[in-house]
Amino acid sequence: MLPQDMRYIGVNDHAVDLFEGQYVVPNGMAYNSYVILDERVAVMDTVDAGFGDEWLQKLTEALDGRRPDYLVVQHMEPDHSANMARFVERYPEATVVASAKALAMAKDFYGLEGERTLAIKEGDTLSLGRHELTFIAAPMVHWPEVMLTYDKTDRVLFSADAFGKFGALDVDEEWDCEARRYYIGIVGKYGAQVQALLKKAAALDIAVICPLHGPVLTGDLAHYIGLYDTWSAYRPESRGVMIAYTSVYGNTRAAVEYLAGQLRADGCEKVVLCDLARCDMAEAVEDAFRYDRLVLATTTYNADVFPFMRHFIEALTERNYQNRTVGLIENGAWAPLAAKKMTELLSGAKHLTMLETVVTVHAALNADSRAALAAMARELCAVD
Ligand code: FEO
Repeated sequence: MLPQDMRYIGVNDHAVDLFEGQYVVPNGMAYNSYVILDERVAVMDTVDAGFGDEWLQKLTEALDGRRPDYLVVQHMEPDHSANMARFVERYPEATVVASAKALAMAKDFYGLEGERTLAIKEGDTLSLGRHELTFIAAPMVHWPEVMLTYDKTDRVLFSADAFGKFGALDVDEEWDCEARRYYIGIVGKYGAQVQALLKKAAALDIAVICPLHGPVLTGDLAHYIGLYDTWSAYRPESRGVMIAYTSVYGNTRAAVEYLAGQLRADGCEKVVLCDLARCDMAEAVEDAFRYDRLVLATTTYNADVFPFMRHFIEALTERNYQNRTVGLIENGAWAPLAAKKMTELLSGAKHLTMLETVVTVHAALNADSRAALAAMARELCAVD
């Protein structure tokens, strides 16, 4: 619920095929924008290029005959800034408020320069009358120019991409899963920067979080902030074993299904299987970060690992995958090399505990490889 003099003027996008050019969003995407109707009127960000008409219409209705004094641009990524030029054209007397980096980007993206601008930095304030806005730098959450806005009057944090999620607002779905997939995919590399932001946020009294994607958050904010702390500190969120695999003729799949059966028989509480050639890669990456244990199983291919496995491991390491237990299963009909190659791919990852048991499947399961998989299951179940 927004304070009585704030309005939501965001839009839902159900036409997007890939958000940010790579993420499937089966429930669409929301681009949020807000208006604060005080003695002076501030508009908080714009929306994606495809929704300029709808957004301007909503803005006009919210203004109810008034004209805005400020456009606050917290984040220059075009899913939020794409309608800056249209705004400036319609309201040339309004001042664009943004970080100096964002204003430089506005010139590069939209050729905007010479308009009324106010470059703000961390700690600067802007009074609208009843509301006093304070700006908080949040570099790399998720671009370098990002500036969050805190309204101390009504204890509202406008959080830019932070605390956002995939999914349009006219679809009813649980927050955690699509917020986790969004966070790990888009901001996962920048855990240190998110930790720095959480420290700043801890000093604020926050009742409402207004992100640029996903719903306005109210009520038990500790739940959302706690998850952000877990994710950005690279701590596992849940106990469980994620088994990520590739299989060409079904033999590696048979191996991981046998392992999953052994894990369940040994009392392992949660086992998630993922075929990397067929699943949503962003969801696989999300699950790897969610659980405390990971098994990688793949065929040897061109004296390397199967391409989907390489892509998966690189997606983990570029997001600073760490603090987990990892087991390796390789398959090879004549020269199994995949475990060695996966070890090399993971070599830069910090604080990984590698299982003692490494399983080699020679083409198809046999008594030896079944015994090795049973040993791997026991070792996984024994992890604290
Ligand atoms: Fe939603 Fe980083 O833009």
